[in-house]
Amino acid sequence: MLIHLLFFFFYLALAQSSSALSAQSTSLNVHSSNGDNDNYIFNPHLPPKSLSASKKFEGSSDLVNLRYHMGPVLSSPINIYLIWYGNWAPAQQLLIKDFILSISTFNHRAAPSPSVSEWWRTVSLYTDQTGGNISQSILISGEYHDHLYSHGKHLTRLTIQDVIATAVRSKPFAVDHKKGIYLVLTATDVTMQDFCRAVCGFHYFTFPSMVGYTLPYAWVGNSGKQCPEVCAYPFAVPGYMGKGSGIGPLRPPNDDVGVDGMISVIAHELAEVSSNPLVNAWYAGEDPTAPTEIGDLCEGLYGTGGGGGYIGQVMKDKNGRTYNLKGRRGRRFLVQWIWSPVLKACAGPNALD
Ligand SMILES: *[C@@H]1O[C@H](CO)[C@@H](O)[C@H](O)[C@H]1NC(C)=O
Repeated sequence: MLIHLLFFFFYLALAQSSSALSAQSTSLNVHSSNGDNDNYIFNPHLPPKSLSASKKFEGSSDLVNLRYHMGPVLSSPINIYLIWYGNWAPAQQLLIKDFILSISTFNHRAAPSPSVSEWWRTVSLYTDQTGGNISQSILISGEYHDHLYSHGKHLTRLTIQDVIATAVRSKPFAVDHKKGIYLVLTATDVTMQDFCRAVCGFHYFTFPSMVGYTLPYAWVGNSGKQCPEVCAYPFAVPGYMGKGSGIGPLRPPNDDVGVDGMISVIAHELAEVSSNPLVNAWYAGEDPTAPTEIGDLCEGLYGTGGGGGYIGQVMKDKNGRTYNLKGRRGRRFLVQWIWSPVLKACAGPNALD
């Protein structure tokens, strides 16, 4: 449910105490061309974002006890209601919408492989108790622009529901219990309770007492100015890992550290809200208030050979921009992998094996 930063900080503490370990090689298995002659595959050596992500590769699979708890998943075509909170540049909105619209291929021609819609295939492997799979159809069904920061520039887990209530009433958005995801995206100048310190995004459902209905929602913030080294990783890395350490940030696929970083967090939250919309379906661990979900299990992994200091094999274009998925209108994105219930491992369409 959360982006588990505690593990990240734990890792940083380790990394700091053994910085010699990270002193040289920045990549592994660099070899040219996978048929696309302006691209090559590389596997950057960066500390993993979370210990949970690297665990699997170090044999601690007892951590992964993903179970189905009998609740619903989003098995009907999914409608996304976007709430833009604060000041957003149209180009940034277009980039995020292109990502979301790349998931489904019902409304446009499929992008070449490895594509965003192939990435969502892993999510669609999750089913509910009737055998219904998570839908592969995702539409943006409404947008609300809250330019005037209707609930201020600091939000909490509770006031985010006021933001949704305002949007649902004033748009008006459909009240879409069964098929809707209300996605709140906050601008760089909006702070959020626990943002940067413990979370980069989260999902939950609204309370009838606050919004009038129980609606699954997710929140993701633009970390570009507040904490890119935490929430827009690996496009920014902590300062002490900079020059001289041999570890540098990767160039983002669309040259927007904050928004390119958000896209992987949006992907993570959409996968989790779809497989656990009322927090009673797919998660690991015994505690439903702190569940480990299908995105959490693969945080920091973007390709084959990830773990133990590597993010996995991803692609680089001739300008050095890093990506692992292709989307509509020629877009490229770098998105973390998702836990596959079939493979019992993290999976993505850019896998090399
Ligand atoms: C539905 O999920 C099952 C179980 O994971 C999988 O075998 C099947 O291929 C999925 N079907 C679709 C249409 O995704």
